[in-house]
Amino acid sequence: MPRADYQTSLPGYQSQQYLNRQAQRESNARSYPRRIPIAIREAKGVFITDTDGNQYFDCLAGAGTLALGHNHPVAIAAMREVLDSSLPLHTLDLTTPVKDQFVEELFASLPAGFARNARIQFCGPTGADATEAAVKLVKTATGRRSMLSFHGGYHGMTHGALSLTGNLAPKQQVANLMPEVHFLPYPYNYRCPFGIGGEFGHRLSSHYIEHILTDPESGITPPAGMILEIVQGEGGAIPAPDRWVREIRRITRDRGIPLIVDEIQTGWGRTGKLYAFEHAGIVPDVVLLSKAIGGSLPLSVVLYHKDLDQWSPGAHAGTFRGNQMAMAAGLATLRYIQDFGLVDRAQELADRLMGHLRQLQGDSRCIGEVRGRGLMVGVEIVNTEATASDLGSYPAHPLLARRIQSECLSRGLILELGGRHGSVVRFLPPLIVTAEQLDQICERFAAALKAAEGLMSAQLAEVS
Ligand SMILES: Cc1ncc(COP(=O)(O)O)c(C=O)c1O
Repeated sequence: MPRADYQTSLPGYQSQQYLNRQAQRESNARSYPRRIPIAIREAKGVFITDTDGNQYFDCLAGAGTLALGHNHPVAIAAMREVLDSSLPLHTLDLTTPVKDQFVEELFASLPAGFARNARIQFCGPTGADATEAAVKLVKTATGRRSMLSFHGGYHGMTHGALSLTGNLAPKQQVANLMPEVHFLPYPYNYRCPFGIGGEFGHRLSSHYIEHILTDPESGITPPAGMILEIVQGEGGAIPAPDRWVREIRRITRDRGIPLIVDEIQTGWGRTGKLYAFEHAGIVPDVVLLSKAIGGSLPLSVVLYHKDLDQWSPGAHAGTFRGNQMAMAAGLATLRYIQDFGLVDRAQELADRLMGHLRQLQGDSRCIGEVRGRGLMVGVEIVNTEATASDLGSYPAHPLLARRIQSECLSRGLILELGGRHGSVVRFLPPLIVTAEQLDQICERFAAALKAAEGLMSAQLAEVS
């Protein structure tokens, strides 16, 4: 179990040597090491250990990738089996018994209404390539050119995927992103774009979306597709209400707009359903999957309705689409999730986690909202010294959020930030986390929060 009482400040001596070399050699675009300044020596389950021997609860879990945590025995055994079997490790998109079984069980895991008519495209190994493929797919099938996305949405960092992403920071320096992408209001209750919130807020959002898609002078040409996260991940763990999702499905279906549900982060149980779109009981036209499906190795796919299958042979290609070890590890992961009821368990654990965090919210002055779905939870850090909006929400407090993150790290807890101004502390533990571990995680978070708040108040007092 990680020590909660670090004597030395982080990074430790060994980590610092690695970090120095990393800083000298690696790109200025590197990101995580800046906020999580450690070098990792080993990892198992929910724990990672740095090169100085410090152990941490890993609630980042490869940005929500590691459904079974690090180095789970079933994933490792599946990889070993492939290594020992003489299977080719590289197959482009040629088929093998491992791939065939992966597709078989992946289809069986999907709601019948979707699986019945589904086709699958294996993509280059990252989520962003699944986004790219989906855009090309729907543009080809509809012959249209514009795309719809949502404020706060995240779909990857390649040129096209970045065009569909809300966050301005990585877009600002990059000229000529994909044109004709229109951003729509997501039902973000705490900062409702209509200043209303609640049921009315999300009804206004769907009403507005329907209106602009009907108005012949909206400036938006008939869209080739709409891309949507059912729970926005990088955007700050924002769950869309089921009713709103159903409305969006109705609106897009009525207008023949393919609905692309990006399940890259939510897929395979994270939200308390195997697929997040199942919460609302909708059937999307296109589903993007990556992260968990490779059992910790890179793999991404696009699943879609066969009517959209109008692109030509080779229309989307890529050298690394045949990662056999990833398919085997992914299949083992899926079986484990299903056999051990990890999806329902994620919901139960989420209730416990949310319970702890809501209690903390009551005792703290800096938590604006605790929200999420399943084990995809966010705590929005706000500045209650500032004036609240008419809606009662306070401005983001990115500085304090950063401080909390670093206080967590020094207490053996890795958490990532996301959301507007990076002010949402995100909890993405692996689905195998135990209730007791979650309790310890929350204890550490509570201590870090208290310390960070104390430090901020002291700094403010010094200035005034
Ligand atoms: C919802 C969503 N879509 C797409 C991506 C991009 O995936 P990748 O980083 O593998 O390209 C991510 C990554 O975090 C994601 O969360």
